[in-house]
Amino acid sequence: MSIASEKDWLGMQNAGQAVAITLKKMQAFAKVGMSTKLLDEYGLSVLASFGAVPAPKKDYNFPGYTCISLNHEACHGIPAADRLLKEGDLVNIDVSAELDGYYADNGGSFILGPDHQQLLPLVNASKEILQIAIAQIRDRVKIADVGALIHQEARKRGFTVIKNLCGHGVGRKLHEAPYEIPCFRDRLNRDRFRKNSVVALETFISTKANRVFETADGWTMKAKDNSFVAQHEHTLVVTDGTPVLLTAENGIFA
Ligand code: CO
Ligand code: CO
Repeated sequence: MSIASEKDWLGMQNAGQAVAITLKKMQAFAKVGMSTKLLDEYGLSVLASFGAVPAPKKDYNFPGYTCISLNHEACHGIPAADRLLKEGDLVNIDVSAELDGYYADNGGSFILGPDHQQLLPLVNASKEILQIAIAQIRDRVKIADVGALIHQEARKRGFTVIKNLCGHGVGRKLHEAPYEIPCFRDRLNRDRFRKNSVVALETFISTKANRVFETADGWTMKAKDNSFVAQHEHTLVVTDGTPVLLTAENGIFA
């Protein structure tokens, strides 16, 4: 969407804070031995305290309130009572919700406890690269140039990017135009970021994969070579200068 009024600003700020606080609280609540279903239900309770409605269920009838993906799962993991968190797990929580007609989207990967799988460099790369990419976004910057930057920064750190998962426009629905903000230079993508538009920028950084595929549950995406994928995502408003982060707590990048 494009911000057109004070009401839009407030609506997007409120939706952004609801998902940002829910994500932070879920990350803090996650414990070894806890099921991803319990973590998801906790997330629902935090969203509900803001009056926010989980977007994956509302827009796509996803079988969960948030997406919780573990280890080799790249995204869209289904919360389940028999999926128990283990020490050293690579955990990705992606929270998206609608509040008073406005949608925001915020996600992040982290390692639960000690880094037994030595994935901290991957997680840190994803987080840093998202920050670097966001800093380059402003009115009229080409989406393909930001994709190229994400790819270049991933390669520099010895990682790959997933080419069939993207960031996207957001605001009045979970996914709206621009539908594809890839993590590489897509030569066919001639779109530019536009002032006042709301976008969800996402990194999909991998240890070695370039693509992910849907698994038998019809939702969870995974690479075929069992490589790992880390993702970080923020919802922001494009301006003439530095974008306004809607999903950063107190405006602080994390
Ligand atoms: Co998301
Ligand atoms: Co998203």
